[in-house]
This record gives sequence, C-alpha cells and structure tokens, in this order.
Amino acid sequence: MDFIGLYPTWYEPGIGSGWVVAIIATVHVLFSHTAVGAAILFAYLSTKAYREDRPELLDYIKKYGLFLLIFSYVVGSITGVGIWYSTTVASPRGISALIHTFVWKWATEWVFFVIEVVGVYMVVYLVGKVDKRTHMTIAWVFGLASYATMLIIIGILSFMLWPGKEVWFVEGGYLNGFYGSNTFAQLAMRTAFMLTMTAVVGGIVAARIKDPAFKKEMSRKLGWLGIVSTIVGAALFQWYLHTLPEYAHLVMQNRLPDYFGPSLMAILGGILVYFIATMLQPRLLVTWGAATMVVALLVFGLWPEEVARESIRKPWVAGQYVYSNQVIGRDVPGLGIESEMPRLEAHGLLPLHPFLPEELREVTPENVARAGEAVAITMCTNCHSLSDTGIRPIRRYIGDSSDIVAIKRYMKGSLGTGNTMYMPAMPLKDLEFEALAVYLASLNDPSVVARYQAERAPLAKVQTTEDK
Ligand code: HEC
Repeated sequence: MDFIGLYPTWYEPGIGSGWVVAIIATVHVLFSHTAVGAAILFAYLSTKAYREDRPELLDYIKKYGLFLLIFSYVVGSITGVGIWYSTTVASPRGISALIHTFVWKWATEWVFFVIEVVGVYMVVYLVGKVDKRTHMTIAWVFGLASYATMLIIIGILSFMLWPGKEVWFVEGGYLNGFYGSNTFAQLAMRTAFMLTMTAVVGGIVAARIKDPAFKKEMSRKLGWLGIVSTIVGAALFQWYLHTLPEYAHLVMQNRLPDYFGPSLMAILGGILVYFIATMLQPRLLVTWGAATMVVALLVFGLWPEEVARESIRKPWVAGQYVYSNQVIGRDVPGLGIESEMPRLEAHGLLPLHPFLPEELREVTPENVARAGEAVAITMCTNCHSLSDTGIRPIRRYIGDSSDIVAIKRYMKGSLGTGNTMYMPAMPLKDLEFEALAVYLASLNDPSVVARYQAERAPLAKVQTTEDK
C-alpha cells in the first residue's frame, strides 16, 4: 500500500509546537518590522540632514542604527532562522508548499536582504566618512531594499492564508498565487504599524539625547510618526478585515480569544497616549519608559495579531490545501497534487503513515492506547496540546470523562464528519476512533486501558477470525 506523505510529528509536550512557532514569529515581527521602518526613517532623516546641513540627525541615525544592529539584526536574524527551523519541523508540508510555489521569490527576497544587511553597516559606519549626499543615497538604497524584502514576504504570507486567484489551483503560476485578495491591504497595514514600532523603539535611542532642544525635536518627530502611523494603521486594519474571506470572518467571530479585541484597543490607545505625552513633555521620554512600551507592543499587540493570523486560516496551514495536521486536503491540479482524503477514508491513518512502528499499523486490544496516542500526536497536536498547558489543551473538551463510548461518539461526531469549520475532516477508521477515545480517556483515568483490554480482547479475537 502506498504511504501518504506525512513526516514524523514534532510534539512539544509543554506548550505545543504551534506556540513555539508563534512565540518565535511574534518576536521576529517586532524586530523585522522595526528594522524595515527604521530604514525608511533613516532615508528621510539623511535627506533632511543633507538638505538642511544637520549633522546631529546623522548622529541620531548612527546611534539608532547601531542599536538596531545589535538589537534588531542579531535577534531578527536569529528568529528569522528560528522560524525556518521551527516551521520546518512543525509543518514540513506547509513549508514545502510555500517553497515549491515561491522558490524564486524567496531567492529574490534574500538578495534584497543581503543588500539590507550590507546597507545597515554602511549607513552606520559611513556617517562622517562620506559626504552627506552619498550617505543619503546609501540610506535610500538601504530603505528601498528593506522594503522590498517586506513586499515579497507579504505576498507569501497572504498566499498562506488564501492563494491569490481561484485559477491558481488549476493552472498554478506564481503570480496567480502571489497577489492574494489581501496582499495590498496587508502590506499597507503592516507598513503603517511598522512605522509605529520604529517610532516606539526609536524612543529608546532618543531618550538618551543630551541636547534638550534636539531631544525635543526628535520626540516631536517620533511622536508624530507614531501617532499618524497608529491612526492610519487602525484605519487600514479595517480595510484589511474587509479583504478577508467570509470564512475567516466566521472564525474570527467565533474562535478568537476574548482578550483579542480589548487587548488591541488598549495597546492602540496606550500608544497614542504615550506619544502625546512624550511630545508635550520630552522629559517623559526615558529609556525604561520606551522599553516598557516596546514590551507592551509585543505582548498586547503582536501576540494577539499573530495568534489571530494563525487562527483565521484554520483548518489549513498553507494555501488552503495543506491541513494543519499535514494531510493534503484537496486536489491542486496546477501543482500536480492530489488530495489524500480518499485514501485516508479507504484505509485509515495508521496503515498509511510512513513513520509508525509496524506493530501500530493495526489496532489491537494490546496496543490500543499507544495506537490512540499515535493518532492523537499525528492528527491533533499541531493544534491541541495533549498536556494541560499550551495550545488548546485537548482535555478541556472531555472534562474529566473517562467514558470511552461517549468520547468516541463525540470525536466521531466532531472530527469524522468534517463539519467543524476550524478542524480538518478526519475520516479515520472506526477502530482508530476507538483507540483515540481509549487514549483520551486514559488521560483522565489510566485504569481504563486495562479494563478495555479485559473486555475487548475476547471480542477482538472473534472479530479477527470472522474477518479471515
Ligand atoms: C487545524 C487545527 C486542529 C486540528 C488538527 C485539530 N483540532 Fe480540534 N479544534 C481546533 C479548534 C480551533 C477548535 C476550537 C477550539 C476552541 O474554540 O476552543 C477545536 C475544537 C475541538 C473540540 C471541541 C469541538 C466542538 O465542536 O465542541 C474537540 C473535541 C477537538 N477539537 C478534538 C480534536 C482531536 C481529537 C483532534 C485530532 C484527532 C483535533 N481536534 C485536531 C483545531 C484543531
């Protein structure tokens, strides 16, 4: 029998692989967005420095740039690589889908990224060593290259949510996939919020400016940048919501955590108040205050945003054809990909998974709990942790029940039919559902396994002899 193309599952008991990816991604968004926003800010400031002959602006660029080199580029690059590592093991087929569709786009992005990294060194270390006009040119090349990296990544991100045109599924073609319904809305919104982050992080550097007049000027500049970009960003967020498919709205209405809305409103309001205060009273711009705002932005703004982005594409992880549990859920003739659902329905999961021990291929009373665990790890842990912490702990749904029959009926109802909008359809075999139920029940009461074995072993013998 042909296996389906699953990989071994990365199971992270404490928090779940999904959260590991989300934590790394959230930190990465802060650092990468700040870096791109700062590049644009530097282009603007160096132009002003050249036109108005203002060396102190170059000095600010140098300090902010140096800070970014340590802060953004080191942590940003490490988390960037971290996203590759973690998503490759958490979701190998999701990443594979993106690479197969966008390999040259990514290569292009890396070219711009190299320009960006060389650029930031030049912008920082050439201050005072080249004339202001040359510095301005370098700053613009740096700014545009940085923005180009973002432009490309956002095309890929919006494909992850929803491939651009429906014909992409049939014809393929990266342009059909690249410009999704929300690519430009997302680009515009992220551009605005990235400038907000740049203004907040820039405050850490501006707080240390000695000259009061210059400090006042910079807190004004950063304040305006922050206020305008926050308000424009909030408006663009509405546009972005508008471009989301109806399906994503349904998920958002029903499945986002309660703290999502209040958290975003609080952080947007908090940022506005903060900038108004530091503009009116530059003395309020202090290092720890700005650093606190950065952390608040991370926790109350970016974390919910990343979690929401992950939620609204459920049950898919990429391109509306790779399920979060890595099963291919629909045909994509454009890429020569066939849905694996019919085979799953015909044979069940255990015989088709390439990376399972042979003794788990068939559910027996002896291996029932381990077979159930294998089903749960493969099919559920991308979205549910099997322990009590982390991403949507699975026990939450069964309470303290250890009633195998009831749990089995519940699982068959919610998973077997494919009727939930946020979970993949999982046409498992009856015995696989039973094994899953035994395993889940055993999380609440380990003794159910022995009882099950005592009851079912004689039955199972009868069944197998009848089968043969
Ligand atoms: C694509 C991600 C995903 C996968 C894979 C997944 N689930 Fe879920 N599941 C969810 C989401 C999202 C919810 C809704 C959670 C919430 O709002 O609390 C959910 C809810 C549930 C519920 C409550 C359902 C209801 O409608 O009352 C059960 C039971 C459940 N999951 C079991 C499982 C089991 C068992 C597996 C593996 C066989 C699994 N899930 C795989 C995402 C997933």
